[in-house]
Amino acid sequence: MIACDPGIGTSVYLDGHYVAPSEARVSVFDRGFLFADSVYEVIPFYSGHGFRLEEHVARLERSLAAVGIVSSQPWAAIATELVARNGGGDQAVYLQVTRGNEGYRNHRYGPGLTPTVVAFSYAIPEALEGDPARVEGIAAALIDDIRWQRCDIKATTLLANVMVLQQALAQGAQEALLVRDGLLTEGSACNLLLIQDGCIYTPPKGPQILGGTTRDLVLELAAGAAIPCCEQALPRARVFAADELWITSSTRGVIPVLQVDGRPVGDGSKGPLWHTMAALFRRFEQQVRQR
Ligand code: PDD
Repeated sequence: MIACDPGIGTSVYLDGHYVAPSEARVSVFDRGFLFADSVYEVIPFYSGHGFRLEEHVARLERSLAAVGIVSSQPWAAIATELVARNGGGDQAVYLQVTRGNEGYRNHRYGPGLTPTVVAFSYAIPEALEGDPARVEGIAAALIDDIRWQRCDIKATTLLANVMVLQQALAQGAQEALLVRDGLLTEGSACNLLLIQDGCIYTPPKGPQILGGTTRDLVLELAAGAAIPCCEQALPRARVFAADELWITSSTRGVIPVLQVDGRPVGDGSKGPLWHTMAALFRRFEQQVRQR
């Protein structure tokens, strides 16, 4: 048996039961395993409280509907209970729903399958505590977006995401910035925002990107602070005209990208607007903690 990372909680949710990680077993005939026929969410919790929990649940329900998996569960309660069982504090919940298991392999699926539901939680890395001084910027590489045409669905069909990230790592970068038809889309597991002349630009939602909950929150916080935002298509060259570049995700928050393809973004340091956003983000996070 493979040992679990020490950050993984001691309780795993599987089909209605909270069990030890070693007891959480799924059949090799499960369509999630055979076809990646499944969708998922990653939901952060701070001090035991769900962060944008409703938005994550809404997106899970959209993903389920988009792929035609019929499963209606108390998602928020399952995630919250799991975090409590695993000691509360700062954790991320990974929640996956597969189409289920018919006991054989067939692309075509029959009616009436019972979806498999799995959730586990793990400690969120320290960088997310929100102290801007401790957030390190990253280097990114521009990589061809080889993913499918429904990136708006949070599906576990992530082989292309794994490959593009690996390509970026091989170039000495920590994240891939994906380009499709000359336009920036997003990262391998994050959204992308670009700052130019005091305005936040990000690609519009659509089939080419995942509608990120952190991206939405950043736009909301910016609107509340009267920082101009614009959702528009971004040609790849905009990266090199940007003053700042950020990536966002539930497990990483808002991270500045300081270098792309070995060239500095802006002056190559964490920019002033990032500091403003980091403070707004931190204040929002504190409110969640104090609920
Ligand atoms: N990924 N785009 C992609 C392709 C992603 O996989 C993610 C998140 C995001 C950001 O979405 P959000 O802000 O709601 O986390 C954008 C998660 C964290 C993951 O797969 O681990």
